Amino acid sequence: MTSDTYFANGAEVSLFEQAYQRNLPVMLTGPTGCGKTRFVEHMGSLLGRPVVTISCHDDLTSSDLVGRFMVTGGDVIWTDGPLTRAVKSGAICYLDEVVEARHDSLAILHSLTDHRRALYLDRADEVVHAPTEFMLVCSYNPAYRSSLKELKPSFRQRFVTLPMTYLPADREAQVVVSESGVDTATAQRLVQCATAIRTADRAFHFEPPSTRVLVTAAQLISAGATELEAADACILAPLSGDGAITDGLREVAAASLLGADAAGAQPH
Ligand SMILES: Nc1ncnc2c1ncn2[C@@H]1O[C@H](COP(=O)(O)OP(=O)(O)OP(=O)(O)O)[C@@H](O)[C@H]1O
Ligand SMILES: [Mg+2]
Repeated sequence: MTSDTYFANGAEVSLFEQAYQRNLPVMLTGPTGCGKTRFVEHMGSLLGRPVVTISCHDDLTSSDLVGRFMVTGGDVIWTDGPLTRAVKSGAICYLDEVVEARHDSLAILHSLTDHRRALYLDRADEVVHAPTEFMLVCSYNPAYRSSLKELKPSFRQRFVTLPMTYLPADREAQVVVSESGVDTATAQRLVQCATAIRTADRAFHFEPPSTRVLVTAAQLISAGATELEAADACILAPLSGDGAITDGLREVAAASLLGADAAGAQPH
């Protein structure tokens, strides 16, 4: 198992490759912990390109992306930002949580994401043409979207959009096994627990537990925690901001684990 082991959930691998071949930028959407970052890392290694990740936030300026003049030892010299470096080196540039960035910071990407494939560095009086290997990938979690933070259609429509979600239960259990080393039965119980909460989530209004928390719970279990302890700490507590989980939800989770525990406690 390597850090880029990726379990596909449909046609996203070939769609990404096709977008790469045709020099098209890709937008990944999906809930936290569903595999967006892992997918980009996997595609980077499949295509033999380095991945440069930039985490977006609302203080991010276009200068933070493309670069700025800096005073170094009395000289004022232009210093490329991470986006410019990624373009010049033909990397896959991954803008994580792009919805967090301000619209004026994202405007710099327009010329890079259409037929021009160029970065206009007005201040440096330079135009950087993207080599064919360069690819821009963005991601965001639609659940965090607010009316203040909406990507403009002129931005969204520049991308091949690949909506991502959790894997089907049996595949998700394989991820949990592969990432933590727990046995398949344990992984299946954790997935069952998450599925029960995801189904109940409509009533509870939480962002549902992700594949990430199942992997974390499984890692605690393989380090010696009981399934209930691990589920409590990794699956249930992070669901709400203050860690206070309703009894109803705890019962939903425990039913998937305890039912199986009771069965496991029977003599063989
Ligand atoms: N399809 C998958 N294949 C392999 N591992 C996965 C997959 N989906 C999730 N994982 C596991 O879940 C963890 C979290 O996934 P990842 O970091 O890619 O989520 P994300 O969608 O980028 O989340 P966020 O929006 O919070 O950044 C990974 O480190 C990996 O252990
Ligand atoms: Mg991520």
